[in-house]
Amino acid sequence: MTPLETTDFDPSKIPAHVAIIMDGNGRWAKKRLMNRVKGHEKGSETVRTIVRVSRELGIRYLTLYAFSTENWGRPKMEVSALMSLLKKFIYSEKSDMMKHRIRLNALGQIEKLPEDVRSALVQVMEETKDNDGMCLNLALSYGSRDEIAGTVRLLAEQVKQGVMKSEEITEDVISSHLFTRGMPDPDLMIRTSGEMRISNFLMWQLSYAEIFFTPTLWPDFSEEEYKKILLDYQNRDRRFGKVEE
Ligand code: FPP
Repeated sequence: MTPLETTDFDPSKIPAHVAIIMDGNGRWAKKRLMNRVKGHEKGSETVRTIVRVSRELGIRYLTLYAFSTENWGRPKMEVSALMSLLKKFIYSEKSDMMKHRIRLNALGQIEKLPEDVRSALVQVMEETKDNDGMCLNLALSYGSRDEIAGTVRLLAEQVKQGVMKSEEITEDVISSHLFTRGMPDPDLMIRTSGEMRISNFLMWQLSYAEIFFTPTLWPDFSEEEYKKILLDYQNRDRRFGKVEE
């Protein structure tokens, strides 16, 4: 089969926002009798490929679940290896982000990250903040319940202070207080490795997303498979709870 080209896509149906749960790094490594960290290293290469393809296709927002609030419970050695991979990625991709006008953004409790990772992130977010190409969201120390609970606390405080009335709390008000404020909700969510769960990822924002699960482990997830999913997405009938005209 000939590889899919940009021209194979309907430009009017390119998803504005793609969100991905990058799962299966550990299993990829285990299958090869390697340390789990090797799987994360190979997974970082997949991240580079998927960022490039997303940008080339004109996707405006790409959100990658890189580290969940629950991932802090992994062995110390794995957490620290993931943190150094993240730092390496942030610094090594900076020039590419500037060249292609990519804006780096973080979703999650970034104050919980080790100081060196946090400062790399803050620095590159600042340097790329005026870039008007794709926005790359890294979900780091992110949990959807934690995000929603934080929003509820903040809005409750505003009501308590008399700044807002409880009846003014609408869906739009809630959306505008989440980490994804100002962004369109994901149109498409992909999870690799055969697991069919949402795992505390963007639960509010994914309400109407098209969901694709693939058995492929993240380090093996290729440009071609990503493009096939995007093509399949373009053929889905999105009705948002309504009926066809
Ligand atoms: C899930 O695989 C993956 C993660 C918890 C981390 C994702 C991190 C990367 C892809 C690399 C670093 C990120 C960037 C943005 C450069 P798993 O370890 O849960 O796999 P398993 O389910 O097979 O054990």
